[in-house]
Amino acid sequence: MSGHGTPVPMTSRACGPLTGVAEVPGDKSISHRSLILGALSVGETRITGLLEGDDVLDTARAMRAFGATVTDHGGGAWSVQGVGVGGFAEPSGVIDCGNSGTGVRLIMGAMATTGITATFTGDASLCGRPMGRVTDPLALFGCRAHGRQGGRLPMTLVGAADPVPVRYVVPVPSAQVKSAVLLAGLNAPGETVVIEREATRDHTERMLAGFGAEIDVEQTDEGRVITLQGRPELQAQVIAVPRDPSSAAFPVCAALIVPGSDVLVPGIGLNPTRAGLFTTLREMGADLTYENEREEGGEPVADLRARFSPDLHGVVVPPARAASMIDEYPVLSVVAAFAQGKTEMRGVKELRVKESDRIDAMAKGLRAAGVTVDEGEDWWVVTGLGHGQVPGGNTAESRLDHRIAMAFMVMGMATQQPVSVDDGSPITTSFPIFGPLMASLGALIDGSKA
Ligand code: S3P
Repeated sequence: MSGHGTPVPMTSRACGPLTGVAEVPGDKSISHRSLILGALSVGETRITGLLEGDDVLDTARAMRAFGATVTDHGGGAWSVQGVGVGGFAEPSGVIDCGNSGTGVRLIMGAMATTGITATFTGDASLCGRPMGRVTDPLALFGCRAHGRQGGRLPMTLVGAADPVPVRYVVPVPSAQVKSAVLLAGLNAPGETVVIEREATRDHTERMLAGFGAEIDVEQTDEGRVITLQGRPELQAQVIAVPRDPSSAAFPVCAALIVPGSDVLVPGIGLNPTRAGLFTTLREMGADLTYENEREEGGEPVADLRARFSPDLHGVVVPPARAASMIDEYPVLSVVAAFAQGKTEMRGVKELRVKESDRIDAMAKGLRAAGVTVDEGEDWWVVTGLGHGQVPGGNTAESRLDHRIAMAFMVMGMATQQPVSVDDGSPITTSFPIFGPLMASLGALIDGSKA
């Protein structure tokens, strides 16, 4: 929910080997989509392994506000009684999506082609993020948006009572934009076509097919062409949410930089549109293996085993890989600080419009910890100091950004001096058990409420 409580300062200090099993929570992207598609279906969707982080809980509340019956059965088991495509009711209050760009953008898409009006808001981070990237294509369906200057929240959307289908080339590599257009296309008659030049996470396409929509994906010279037939009757599904690779990144990276560590992170979704970090880490010399590879609920899944990796070296991360690891650059930059040589991260302009400007937030914190970082608008380079050589001793600003807070907590596990963040409370948006889970492996984190 928007607004922000008392800051929770956190400090992480050098620890002994991290060992054990890290059962990270459910995938955030799939959790949002499970609730939203469940709400747009006919019948009862049953979900297990839902991420019960603040972002997803805000989406659950929003689906109730639009008329779906969303029930928490405990232990990550939820059900959604849907209202069907086009069945959203007009909410009586403001929809507060808290910190979640995914939540607000996908929900805007889902309501944009129904003849209702809804007002959206969020916390200070979300109210600073660009919404024009979503409201521009939604306008093509006939939806009108009235927000603050620069297309910021709070914002009111007047849905199109008589929507028309669209053909839209997504101008930025963004699964949120692609998904918003596809969800809007559900209630437009005829064929909505979305073209993305660079492939981004494809959970929406996979899940729409799973819910019974007619959706076709074709790789052409223009890019990935996604064609959706409007006005399907989506059928309720049974969904087991795989564990989140973006959350797995934290115990995995911690194990690589803390001497003697050996951590198993089971049941991680390894959809190729999400697994770029693990490819990069292996290229850097990480002792990271996939065990028990299998398929669950239409997604590739494996148990990850990460061990301390004494010979990490810098690499060039190609721009083409950016979309598949966009949320993992903060923690990658931490691993890069403990590697030998430079790690170059290019084609990453999108990092500047996440929950925070992630290049700026990490660069400032890394420099304060004694690490050299060079940056430009869409690139940054971290010059590694090697294991045991990173001074630390700084307090980084987390800027309402969960991944910045967790990245610096991982860093402090292997620096010479402890590393603090001014506010670890945003961690609950995506990884509410981060503190206790890392402590169970042997991490020494003070002040954690998460
Ligand atoms: C997400 C897409 C990504 C990612 C976010 C989740 C999604 O954002 O950063 O955490 O679930 O679609 P963009 O689509 O803006 O790149």
